[in-house]
Amino acid sequence: MTEKCKTATLQLDGKSIELPILSPTAGPDVLDVRKLYAQAGVFTYDPGYTSTASCDSTITFIDGDKGELLHRGYPIDQLAGKSHYLEVCYLLLYGELPTAVELEDFETRVTRHTMLHEQMQYFFRGFRRDAHPMAIMVGVVGAMSAFYHDSTDINDPWQREVASIRLIAKMPTIAAWAFKYHTGQPFVYPRNDLDFASNFLRMCFAVPAEEYEVNPILSRAMDRIFTLHADHEQNASTSTVRLASSSGANPFACIAAGIACLWGPAHGGANQACLEMLKEIGTPDRIPEFIARAKDKNDPFRLMGFGHRVYKNFDPRATVMKQSADEVLDLLGIEDNPILQVAKELEKQALEDPYFADKKLFPNVDFYSGIILEAMGFPTSMFTPIFALSRTVGWVSQWKEQLADPAHKIGRPRQLYLGETTRDYVDIENR
Ligand code: CMC
Repeated sequence: MTEKCKTATLQLDGKSIELPILSPTAGPDVLDVRKLYAQAGVFTYDPGYTSTASCDSTITFIDGDKGELLHRGYPIDQLAGKSHYLEVCYLLLYGELPTAVELEDFETRVTRHTMLHEQMQYFFRGFRRDAHPMAIMVGVVGAMSAFYHDSTDINDPWQREVASIRLIAKMPTIAAWAFKYHTGQPFVYPRNDLDFASNFLRMCFAVPAEEYEVNPILSRAMDRIFTLHADHEQNASTSTVRLASSSGANPFACIAAGIACLWGPAHGGANQACLEMLKEIGTPDRIPEFIARAKDKNDPFRLMGFGHRVYKNFDPRATVMKQSADEVLDLLGIEDNPILQVAKELEKQALEDPYFADKKLFPNVDFYSGIILEAMGFPTSMFTPIFALSRTVGWVSQWKEQLADPAHKIGRPRQLYLGETTRDYVDIENR
């Protein structure tokens, strides 16, 4: 943020109020309204935060018109093509790409924290077998604060660091065990000789009765899914984590809040909703009917996996994910899967339709990630847990950044009150 040199003038009730303008290193200028209420006695009104910067940050930058996503300045396509998830985790957490020694040390630290406290198994076993894995994740991650007391003091930088590593390292185990519990198979423990993505695939798909070898192409595709979802600046779940943390809540509680928010179909739940929609469409000949419904103002139906609050030309994550989807489908030889045929045809017809072009609605990352995960053999209910485990590093990085800022204060929005004004209580017999 550069020096406050520019100002905007607000004319209100004959008074002139000077509002400082803050200039970022990239993106639009920001009007500083922090003193507005004290100076003018008015609030700003912005439900959905479409014009509000809720914090300053140095982690991720998005230019929605250009379709640009940068982590610490590095474009997402370069990171997805040349880097891998744990290196991107290091970049997000510490601000720079690691040296070889730093990366090895970081990978060792994460790997050494992948196991869960053995007693946490009983938490899993307490859920119904048909519980959604996201419900299990919200519960189990929240419960981590009952198991890891030595990393809940947010005022101790060392404890913050340990909590960060624990969350990143244990989330794949938690997601995989939620899956195993759901399918009735034994939990598979992590293996420290495998890379992050291969370890996750093994914990999901191996059984103790036989050997399991991870296919490197699937492992690479899994790593890409993790990398492409790692962070996305102040989205709904990240803002939830920041708001929860602003009260001084412990890290496990804050991340559980983020997982709860991510679950919604307008956010991380879109990948599951998208695949379910493709299954409901069923055959390419029914696509026009669903497109017509998506365009009908009186029908709440939307094409899941299309549109984005910030990207208005294309989602740069979707471009990389589409390539990955082609690779995985090619490897598995299932291009003729009916769901995938519906997906390809829907993408084509929607992109040709003026409604979607005029409203700048394009396939987002979740349109393609669902296709890959389905091809890998994950049930739709596991799509959002995989998003949650990938996004954990983003939540943790933003949480750490917020706590390191000495000026941070509790988040407390104001409101535009439209209810009754003061009225006298009426005794029940007189109502
Ligand atoms: N299908 C049909 N119409 C749509 C869609 C869609 N998927 N998305 C937006 N519109 C229309 C919407 O009806 C509105 O039309 P009008 O101006 O006539 O009222 C216009 O486009 C703008 O929509 P909006 O709801 O004001 O836009 P938003 O920025 O608030 O919503 C969104 C963004 C992602 C919630 C929305 O596009 C959506 O619901 N998409 C489907 C869910 C989805 O795929 N979500 C995943 C997002 S990517 C993963 C993540 O980052 O979480």
